[in-house]
Amino acid sequence: MYETLQPVAEDPILALMASYRRDTNSNKLDLGIGVYKDEQGQTPIMQAVSSAERLLLERETSKSYIGPAGSEGFNRLITQLVFGADHRVIGENRVVSAQTPGGCGALRIGAELLAACSPTGRIWVSDPTWANHRPLLAGAGLEIREYPYYDSAQRSIRFGEMIDSLNGAEAGDIVLLHGCCHNPTGADLEPEQWRQLAELIERRGLLPFVDIAYQGLGDGLDRDAYGVRYLAEQLPEMMVVTSCSKNFGLYRERTGALFLIGRTPAQTERAGGQLFSRIRGHYSMPPAHGGAVVETILDDTGLTALWQSELSAMRERIRYLRHRLVDRLEQVGVNGDFGHIRHQRGMFSFLGIEREQVVALRKQHSVYLVESGRFNVAGLSNGSIDAFVAALAQTVGV
Ligand code: LMR
Repeated sequence: MYETLQPVAEDPILALMASYRRDTNSNKLDLGIGVYKDEQGQTPIMQAVSSAERLLLERETSKSYIGPAGSEGFNRLITQLVFGADHRVIGENRVVSAQTPGGCGALRIGAELLAACSPTGRIWVSDPTWANHRPLLAGAGLEIREYPYYDSAQRSIRFGEMIDSLNGAEAGDIVLLHGCCHNPTGADLEPEQWRQLAELIERRGLLPFVDIAYQGLGDGLDRDAYGVRYLAEQLPEMMVVTSCSKNFGLYRERTGALFLIGRTPAQTERAGGQLFSRIRGHYSMPPAHGGAVVETILDDTGLTALWQSELSAMRERIRYLRHRLVDRLEQVGVNGDFGHIRHQRGMFSFLGIEREQVVALRKQHSVYLVESGRFNVAGLSNGSIDAFVAALAQTVGV
């Protein structure tokens, strides 16, 4: 049977993670996969998470099944985190949420439902977008179209072209948007641009599908959610996915959520039923542990305050690393224009170097970044910035 299967291209980010692990150079530097690292190069378990896990160990009384939607408490609290407790979609009973196996599980199950109900079955994604968006969405049967997003030469968003392109979308098409900390570019929409997009989406009869996997790592939990909350305020229908991988550091626990917003409570409930039935048909129900950790934190004011302060420290450190890196690149006089890295948001930015230079950094200096030139700012440290700048200087010149 399996002889019919052809070799498949590896996922660029996971392939890079594997080759980094194989590299025996003790000075290797991982700026590939999007995980937060501290000054020692570790991805620590957040203290709020460890405390919640200890509490769970004491309090948990059963491992019995929960259900396709996951924990009711997790869903209630994560909905408030993403939309804000006072958001109208909560008050109007127009949002239904499902705890999912990571943001990927949410993207896939959301795409499955949209493929079944979108009249065109088409989704528009930014050029560029996260490498796994395409397989997740196309695998669900959606046809992928691209809208221009990032101008590599100008290091800024091609907003006018994005709008022109989406003006060509047909009623019933879906638009995938990054809520904050755009992956891979780090270039985020401004409030006025979200407003223009909302107007276009409504006028053309499109459905927004927003991925806000990095909430809290850009400008803060509330400011990062501006676009999601604004669209949900203005538009009758929407889908949103989030992840607890980055902001709770729960990567391997596979914890995320999918939110479906409908026109009316009755329509939302009916669509929710379809959603849960699809979940049952795919993975039956989500893993419980990560969601229980998040619920324990968000249900306890002390743990919430601790978590928020740890998250702020991560966000501030990323911002500091962005500035320090550009300062050092400018002091050394490395060829290129790196100023955009200062003000972009979240874990990622493009260095703006050629593919061959990315390969040379890996082969000659054991510095790992994605071939597109995307690098994980949160993989740097005070101790590694100078070595990284020196490797870049040798690779692209001064
Ligand atoms: C990334 O973009 O590096 C992260 O979202 C991790 C992943 O699964 O690709």
